Amino acid sequence: MSPGAPADQVLDELRALRAGDLPTHGGRTLAYVYDSGLAGLDELAAAAHALASSANGLDPTAFPSLLRMENDVVATAAGLLGGGPATVGSVTSGGTESCLLAVQAARDARPDLERPRMVLATTAHAAFHKGAHYFGVEAVTVPVDPRTFRADPAAMAAAIDDRTVLVVVSAPSYAHGVVDPVAPVAAAAAARGVRCHVDACIGGWVLPYFRRLGVDVPDFDLSVPGVTSLSVDLHKYAYCPKGTSVLLHADASLRRPQFFASARWPGYTMLNSTLQSTRSGGPLAAAWAVLRHVGDAGYERLAARTLEAVRTLRAGIESIDGLRVLGEPGSSLLSITGVADEFDVFTVADEMTGRNWYVQPQFGFGSSPANLHLTVTAANRGSEAELLGDLAAAVAAAREAGPVRLPADLLDVIAALDPDTLTAGQFAGLLAAARLEGAGVPKRMAEVNTMLAAASPALRERLLVEFLSAMYTVHPA
Ligand SMILES: Cc1ncc(COP(=O)(O)O)c(C=O)c1O
Repeated sequence: MSPGAPADQVLDELRALRAGDLPTHGGRTLAYVYDSGLAGLDELAAAAHALASSANGLDPTAFPSLLRMENDVVATAAGLLGGGPATVGSVTSGGTESCLLAVQAARDARPDLERPRMVLATTAHAAFHKGAHYFGVEAVTVPVDPRTFRADPAAMAAAIDDRTVLVVVSAPSYAHGVVDPVAPVAAAAAARGVRCHVDACIGGWVLPYFRRLGVDVPDFDLSVPGVTSLSVDLHKYAYCPKGTSVLLHADASLRRPQFFASARWPGYTMLNSTLQSTRSGGPLAAAWAVLRHVGDAGYERLAARTLEAVRTLRAGIESIDGLRVLGEPGSSLLSITGVADEFDVFTVADEMTGRNWYVQPQFGFGSSPANLHLTVTAANRGSEAELLGDLAAAVAAAREAGPVRLPADLLDVIAALDPDTLTAGQFAGLLAAARLEGAGVPKRMAEVNTMLAAASPALRERLLVEFLSAMYTVHPA
């Protein structure tokens, strides 16, 4: 038996591991992380997290502090997002869990339907496809306007039928930062007696403040007639630590099917409001503390900094020769692409990585060309010129390098793969053809991304799942 390691040593090891990660602060990582830039906020969140992480939300009568904090957080979210006296909600572990529960509750509210469906714009977050997959709800996707990437309300209304249990709109969509026309879609859903969920996971804590700051934000929240639920993530623009989102329902009867009880065993009666059963009080307490400390005025100031950064970056990007911003983004997200095929955006991403910025490659899909996603936060205010200078240099380098060209034999290997029958041997063959075997994640990703872009979405899913499986395979020490 090996002895346990001293605490200091363990923490040193952890610090060393974390040193290899993307930075979570300072605005250089433009996806995955949200940095308020506020001094002391992390320390407050960590202290609050530690105070409650051992408490268990599984039983709110045993831990009434968690019940109180959850109701406080839900009330704050409802107040910000157009809730009324009947609004209720739940704190979940994140955006995906909130979206999954919206799908599950909508399905279970219609036990009479054998083959339920939900209507989504093609730009809806993949969390809804996960919900479709988990809960056996067919996802009916409706193309968006090919230029603005906004959901098409007439087409969405036309897609609603007698089997539809849910209609989903985004405020905004992750891929392009575009706010869907919530009001006409919600009205069409209501006219058919169908639930309408607004996915404001990423925009819910920033759009209300943008509106206060004078931005023309279309109506999107629970005050819009026909909207039955709305998700908003606290671990995004509320700048809370990872692990909290809020799912609001317009009234308790809409939420009822989300709750689960089982008395069919000899143990405690399992009684859950979300997908989790044991729930750490840590993320909730941290979120409660951050919301209370930053406060409404603080969030408005953070949104003002974010808005200035988005405007400066957008104008700067549009003035870089060869780049354009996709669609008409109305929030804090930008997606950028090339105006011609003379360079590769995936190479631009690598060039940015080389300059210590992370911008997120997004594959072409429908009318949306391959592009780079930027989640802009308050921490980007002040360093826009540096980012834009590096972006211009990255584009120049990508132009110099020319478009990525894959060897013909590699393209042949990809063309011959069938996602439904892919074997481990074929996957290994692809890695060998791409000279990727055994080397871990390569430093430059443009070739890999170009290879994945050459695959159909179904094959891409299959290849990446195989890759995930390889990454998460351990060899016991
Ligand atoms: C609009 C939208 N919905 C859902 C999600 C999923 O959230 P999470 O990653 O917290 O599960 C995201 C994440 O970026 C999002 O932007």
